[in-house]
Amino acid sequence: HLSVQERIEKKRKAALTGGGQMRIAAQHKRGKLTARERLELLLDPDSFVEYDMFVEHRCSDFGMEADQNKYPGDSVVTGQGRINGRLVYVFSQDFTVFGGSLSGAHAQKVCKIMDQAMMVGAPVIGLNDSGGARIQEGVESLAGYADIFLRNVMASGVVPQISLIMGPCAGGAVYSPALTDFTFMVKDTSYLFITGPDVVKSVTNEDVTQEELGGAKTHTSVSGVAHRAFENDVDALLNLRDFFNFLPLSNKDPAPVTECHDPRDRLVPGLDTVVPFESTKAYDMLDIVQGIVDEREFFEIMPNYAKNIVVGFARMNGRTVGIVGNQPKVASGCLDINSSVKGARFVRFCDAFNIPIITFVDVPGFLPGTAQEYGGIIRHGAKLLYAFAEATVPKITVITRKAYGGAYDVMSSKHLRGDVNYAWPTAEVAVMGAKGAVQIIFRGKENQAEAEAEYVEKFANPFPAAVRGFVDDIIQPSTTRKRICRDLEVLASKKQTNPWKKHANIPL
Ligand code: COA
Repeated sequence: HLSVQERIEKKRKAALTGGGQMRIAAQHKRGKLTARERLELLLDPDSFVEYDMFVEHRCSDFGMEADQNKYPGDSVVTGQGRINGRLVYVFSQDFTVFGGSLSGAHAQKVCKIMDQAMMVGAPVIGLNDSGGARIQEGVESLAGYADIFLRNVMASGVVPQISLIMGPCAGGAVYSPALTDFTFMVKDTSYLFITGPDVVKSVTNEDVTQEELGGAKTHTSVSGVAHRAFENDVDALLNLRDFFNFLPLSNKDPAPVTECHDPRDRLVPGLDTVVPFESTKAYDMLDIVQGIVDEREFFEIMPNYAKNIVVGFARMNGRTVGIVGNQPKVASGCLDINSSVKGARFVRFCDAFNIPIITFVDVPGFLPGTAQEYGGIIRHGAKLLYAFAEATVPKITVITRKAYGGAYDVMSSKHLRGDVNYAWPTAEVAVMGAKGAVQIIFRGKENQAEAEAEYVEKFANPFPAAVRGFVDDIIQPSTTRKRICRDLEVLASKKQTNPWKKHANIPL
């Protein structure tokens, strides 16, 4: 007979080795770290405080009640810790125990840390590596998923939630990551899908591999389900630490401020010539973004999806900001369904978590065509408009070149409560480009060229917007960083509220 102390030690030791050395070796052979190794890399040294190490599953079907089928802690490691000294709640699914599958006990552990994270006001990071519902537990396991989903929804907009997919995540399991704010993936070893290749084959007769169906490339470039992909476990976890530094702990927290070595009044001379003289010529909006933000450091979100819009996090004078910019390099920077949805979701995250939004505008309008109209560009485009309009965080807008048509209104215009709106001297705010405009209003008339020149003279410049106060100033591009840093300081105490409502009804 073992003493209580000995039993405690034995269980602890068992919990630390999960499914045993053989399964750990198999995990490593796949190029994957174990649940605990991952937490060690993610969290500051010695900061992890584990909860529920003694929790075991309670299933007694299919021989599960046998001692050798019980693993202390079951198939997930949970608790809290620190990233650069800041509190975070974590769960890390242990693939070595029943393939990381979700038992009732597993779900209960996850729910416990989510509940506490919400009460304390700290983000939740989930490291996903799981074969899905614990088959032996049946509906108990399905109930567990729903308990987690409900908490994902309740926590939405209260604390940041991040999912890192580091192995399989299939079936109902995908909906927890889908409900979180950001989903990152590990290349080659992670996949997300509702039904796997075999089911797809039997239902639709399509031949598709796991990787093609739900790998990192698919979800970061085709479906838009995931926001970034990383090379391997280590790369992903280190990037996640960097990313975490941008985020406030909760919706009651201001965006974090870090020490800044980049002078706030730094001039950026390169910006005076970045916009080509010819207004149809492309340039890279990232050059502008990186030139303006602290230390050129920009954490781009969804860099390979809907590349006609650029979104991501950066800092200005040490303070986190959200950046949104049309990308003239891709499809002339026009707005379409995917870029609208990408932008809208990002803007709403920033607004929910007190992160000021800086918007760079060079947009020739919405993408025309049946594909877009049939796809519902009207309701999807409305999302971006809605997101900018409802946002009450500080909003600063810089029109670098084109701001045409409805897209001008959408892109954080003055009319949607932009706090500070600038135009560069190259700005053109108009209903459309000169050629199209002249073809319509001077149809069939001679002297089209003359009419075009007159239109350009009238509209292809910043004055029509400036004389009406729709932009607050026309600024020299090289001074943009200095101006924005100063504005953000002034706007830091901005208070604005929307009318009371149960919740709003964004077009979906
Ligand atoms: N429930 C219970 N145990 C599970 C499980 C689940 N959903 N998924 C995997 N396991 C167990 C396996 O029985 C195996 O146990 P063992 O180590 O004692 O042999 C272990 O986890 C590893 O699984 P294995 O199939 O050997 O790993 P793999 O890397 O070859 O395949 C999966 C991984 C996830 C693709 C495969 O296990 C799978 O298809 N699982 C079922 C997925 C599913 O349909 N879940 C329900 C969706 S909600």
